[in-house]
Amino acid sequence: MDKTENEVPFFVPWITEEDRKAVLEVLSSRWLTGGPKAKEFEKLFTTYTGAKYSVSVSSCTAALHLAMRALNIGPKEEVIVPVLTFAATANAPLFVGANPVFTDIDEKNFNISPKQIEERITKKTKAVIVVHYGGQPCDMKEIMEIAEDHNIEVVEDCAHALGALYQGKNVGTFGAVGCFSFYPTKIITTIEGGMATTHDKNFADRLQLLREHGMTKTAYARENNASWYYDVVDLGYNYRMNEVQAALGISQLKRIDEINEKRKEAARYYTQKLNGIEGIVVPNEEEDRTHLYHLYAIRVLREKFGIDRNELFKRLSAKGIAPSVHFTPLHLLTFYKEAGYGKQSFPVAERISKEIMSLPLFPTISRAQIDFVAKEIAENCKSKKLGK
Ligand SMILES: Cc1ncc(COP(=O)(O)O)c(C=O)c1O
Repeated sequence: MDKTENEVPFFVPWITEEDRKAVLEVLSSRWLTGGPKAKEFEKLFTTYTGAKYSVSVSSCTAALHLAMRALNIGPKEEVIVPVLTFAATANAPLFVGANPVFTDIDEKNFNISPKQIEERITKKTKAVIVVHYGGQPCDMKEIMEIAEDHNIEVVEDCAHALGALYQGKNVGTFGAVGCFSFYPTKIITTIEGGMATTHDKNFADRLQLLREHGMTKTAYARENNASWYYDVVDLGYNYRMNEVQAALGISQLKRIDEINEKRKEAARYYTQKLNGIEGIVVPNEEEDRTHLYHLYAIRVLREKFGIDRNELFKRLSAKGIAPSVHFTPLHLLTFYKEAGYGKQSFPVAERISKEIMSLPLFPTISRAQIDFVAKEIAENCKSKKLGK
């Protein structure tokens, strides 16, 4: 069956009439990239997250790369990363010739284990990139204390977690830099796109410079100042977010509370439906933080449930339900294995990654769709015990 015909797709982007209007308006304007919309989006993002500065970029991957450059991380240095994440988290240090040091996760929330961060710090460690897995913040208090004790930087990979709070404070405002993604399945979308947040003005300036070829003045600034001259003072990139993306981002960000409320509501309903099914472990919510459920990742315990994750995945797919898996531990993927990272062992991530399955979840998912997914899961349980 074509994936687009699934009864319950993994994700459906939520694009409104307002979003469409915002995009069309830009297409009739004079600045299609590097103009006022990106600046407006940055300002709004700063207000929303409480970060002091926001720098819009072409993707979260670009934000992570710029973070490594702006922190002056380079060859022979080490950056600690969780092993259960998307490739981009570990690729950022590799882009600058540094070594990603993979680290195991906590079983209770699939986030990087603070204890293991500490164990992996060496003289070469410059930074740790923490990932707020699935939209639930890491133990930021503990992580910031470890980082301060050992004088290393913290980069927050917030790709899943725009709007998530840890002890009342937004993710992306704890470390030196926060990196956000607006890929279509993420909390808000600009189709492709990202943002870097920071509380340091010089750091924000450096990110901006590197985003635009290392040029001292953008085309927009040159036209507005009636001056043609610019210098190139660093090795930069073209990591700009264009004006169409920014306009869509502004429109989406304006209704982020509604988006996140709908996600949380859908997650609560899933939990209510799945809680009683033997062998299914629903996501754990820590007390001192919000979970936004970019991912609703259940665990399938084969012994109790009767079949394993892969078999359940196949059976759900056959019924028109499209789950997903986040993630295969990176050291088990070909590129990292061939680069010499494959011989290590991360017992928690290795075990959990065989059990996890992300269920379809998007702001417009209906209760009937969740009922259907829950019913199909329950029917495959050996005890046939239905949830509530
Ligand atoms: C944890 C994590 N970090 C980074 C990224 C990269 O985001 P982008 O696609 O915006 O580059 C992703 C994308 O899925 C992700 O899941």
